[in-house]
Amino acid sequence: RQLLGGAAIGAGILGAGAGGFGLAARRDGTAEPPPEDAYGTATVPFHGKHQAGILTTGQAHATLLALDLRPGTGRDDLRRMMRLLSQDAARLTQGEVPLADSEPELALVPARLTVTFGFGPGLVDTAGQAPPSWLAALPGFGVDRLDPAYCDGDLLIEVAADDPVTVAHAVRMLLKDARAFTGIRWTQSGFRRARGTEPGGTTMRNLFGQIDGTVNPAPGSEDFDQLVWCREGWLADGTSLVIRRIHMDLEGWDRLDRPGREQSVGRTLGNGAPLTGGNEHDEPDFEALNAQGFTVIPPFAHIRRARSENPRERIVRRSYNYDDPPPAGQISDSGMIFMSCQADVDRQFVPIQRRLDELDLLNQWTTPVGSAVFAVPPGCGADGYIGETLLE
Ligand code: HEM
Repeated sequence: RQLLGGAAIGAGILGAGAGGFGLAARRDGTAEPPPEDAYGTATVPFHGKHQAGILTTGQAHATLLALDLRPGTGRDDLRRMMRLLSQDAARLTQGEVPLADSEPELALVPARLTVTFGFGPGLVDTAGQAPPSWLAALPGFGVDRLDPAYCDGDLLIEVAADDPVTVAHAVRMLLKDARAFTGIRWTQSGFRRARGTEPGGTTMRNLFGQIDGTVNPAPGSEDFDQLVWCREGWLADGTSLVIRRIHMDLEGWDRLDRPGREQSVGRTLGNGAPLTGGNEHDEPDFEALNAQGFTVIPPFAHIRRARSENPRERIVRRSYNYDDPPPAGQISDSGMIFMSCQADVDRQFVPIQRRLDELDLLNQWTTPVGSAVFAVPPGCGADGYIGETLLE
């Protein structure tokens, strides 16, 4: 392999396009390059019409950073910051070393790293634009027990990859460049099963053991495009991201028997099929009755309540599990970092959440404790930066 030639070591460290494993092999001199399909070498393009991380199949690890602008940060600062952060992200996601990286070896395993930026209302305001009407705190819901420590923010950076060291390093590099302009408001980390532990395309399971994410528009489909991408102004080809930190009462869930668990959602735990039968991706029959004359999928079941008759009232879900150290005297602090993308939060997410707020048996074991809404600007070309449509 050409990559094993020793002369390019320095150039590789400085990041001019060398993939991580190629560099490791050159330094070692004897090491075999990894197989072409090694998960660590896999990259997702950073540049493009849409930001990476929205169409990307969910990676195993994600860290969300919500940052607040420092007082006095202005539009020119925003431009400088977003240029810097976009450059960092462009390099890191390709397994290249960003400028001023003091741990360059950590940058060499991209593992499908994506960095996705979202703007809160404060940032859009600072840029001198009126935020879209849906870019604000969500209306209050009866189920909410929100902790301000997990709400809102001016700038969101979502860092996701199939490897946790890659995520930690990317977070560190991005924060180094963001810190002159921002301070941390909150961070949250989540996970799914490690890549390679299940066949590709397997729908994730949440910590209740449920298959979660079955009914979701397929990335790249016309349906997905219609539901997700904004069409106008600086947000054209961008979208919105709703983040809800939802605590899940695993101890309470333990006390519920399996039929009760399945009825609360309307799907089986085994293969995620609707209670009316078939396989995971078969359509539920919401009219079917059991021998007692009740609907097989109960009126309070999550999937009945979450589904609207209006096909425009749909969202794309891409959630992560969290499992944090429990508070004193408890044995778990677990749940879901629920994330959904939609072109319009008020028309798509809010009506669903309203219905679930009115009736959803799952509410007995789930409690939203954090909430934030961000506008996700479109992607950019190699010479551009994320946010240019707002800031130029
Ligand atoms: C479906 C779990 C919160 C919207 C489902 C399914 C599960 C599930 C197991 C069935 C499989 C699937 O299609 O994914 C949960 C849990 C939650 C939660 C454990 C909280 C911790 C939410 C929230 C929303 C939501 C906050 C939106 C406001 C939906 C939708 C579906 C769904 C739209 C698909 C319904 C359909 O079949 O048309 N959820 N969910 N879920 N959930 Fe949730």
